[in-house]
Amino acid sequence: MSRMPRVLSVVGVRPQFVKHAPVSEAMAGRFEEVLVHTGQHYDYAMSRLFFEELGIRAPDRHLEVGSGTHAEQTGRVAERTEAVILELAPDLVLVFGDTNSTLGAALAAAKLRVPLAHVEAGVRAGLKEMAEEQNRVLVDHASDVLFAPTADAVAHLTREAAHGAVHLTGDVMRDALEQHVARARARPDPAARHGLAPGSYLLLTLHRAENTDDPRALGGILDGLALVDEPVLFPVHPRTRAALDRTGLAARLSALPHLHPIDPVGYLDMLGLQAGARLVVTDSGGIQKEAYLLGTPCLTLFPCTSWVETVAAGWNRLVPEYGAALAAAIRDMVPPEHRPELYGDGRAAGRIADLLADYLGRVRAGGGSVRGASSAPHR
Ligand code: UD1
Repeated sequence: MSRMPRVLSVVGVRPQFVKHAPVSEAMAGRFEEVLVHTGQHYDYAMSRLFFEELGIRAPDRHLEVGSGTHAEQTGRVAERTEAVILELAPDLVLVFGDTNSTLGAALAAAKLRVPLAHVEAGVRAGLKEMAEEQNRVLVDHASDVLFAPTADAVAHLTREAAHGAVHLTGDVMRDALEQHVARARARPDPAARHGLAPGSYLLLTLHRAENTDDPRALGGILDGLALVDEPVLFPVHPRTRAALDRTGLAARLSALPHLHPIDPVGYLDMLGLQAGARLVVTDSGGIQKEAYLLGTPCLTLFPCTSWVETVAAGWNRLVPEYGAALAAAIRDMVPPEHRPELYGDGRAAGRIADLLADYLGRVRAGGGSVRGASSAPHR
């Protein structure tokens, strides 16, 4: 009996744990999955909590890359993933999203000529300087199989003439949300812990370097929020916490009594907070989609977005200017009645598993085992 194809899945940060969970479930019993955690996110609330809530088994390998510059992080992931690939000779490496972990693992696979598949391929914000955009483009052009979440993403890959096989699958974040939203709703309301009733607060998240590492941007966001008369619940990402402390803006934040900074929360509480908020204010891509799917309008603190469908539907608005302009946007944001179906049908992960099986079947039929292609390192 022939063995199951071995797939090396590489994850490292919060949103990747979410994207990986439904795909891993769909692959169960058909593939031998080896799970690698790069360790890019390492705090309990940024990592372990997600594994627990999403029911992901413990990783088979932990690369412990931790924090660092982009090159340090990417380089460590590449080097340590390469070692795992050489040790375990997977038939395919599977990467998710647009982080330094994604790029590092993609480089290791591409250089060893192990087939590479990318979940959330073709996503573009149109801003070349953005770390995530650089990662997306490089990973897509190194990939053999590209799973695009939207028609817009397919169009980007076609325009750029990506050489891998492109498939429109729908978005695995929708799958994850549909699988877990009932559990999130059944839990005690996480906003109530902070004395806030459903529909009576704004939910704020910030972590993009463009906002956190520029004191004028971060200060401008606080200036805008100072003018707002609704409570603002603010789970603070460690990068943002460090920036607030570094710039002295933490004192300004504590002087605003309607702002409630809290520790980062897990996936289920985050779904609950988004569902209960009057409005979400964020610079996260994933949260723009989740807010939409949960029926909560969103303001995006960035000049552009990869999730243009939410803007076209009128449920997401870009806010590139902060201060008074942000306060006005918060006051004025009222979504339209209609909220079209977006991001697939909640069955993207199953499609991805089928397409992977198909691809690896063809690789086997065409050229025997792809293992061995990986065993000739350049020294
Ligand atoms: C990364 C991704 C971003 C993704 C985000 C999800 C890149 C370039 N960016 O950004 O695309 O949207 O994850 O959250 O890969 N830190 C901790 N504990 C942790 C993790 C981080 O304290 O568990 C602190 C460290 O000081 C670190 C900083 O947060 O330097 C930033 O972390 P980093 O891994 O560089 O990227 P994120 O900002 O989380």
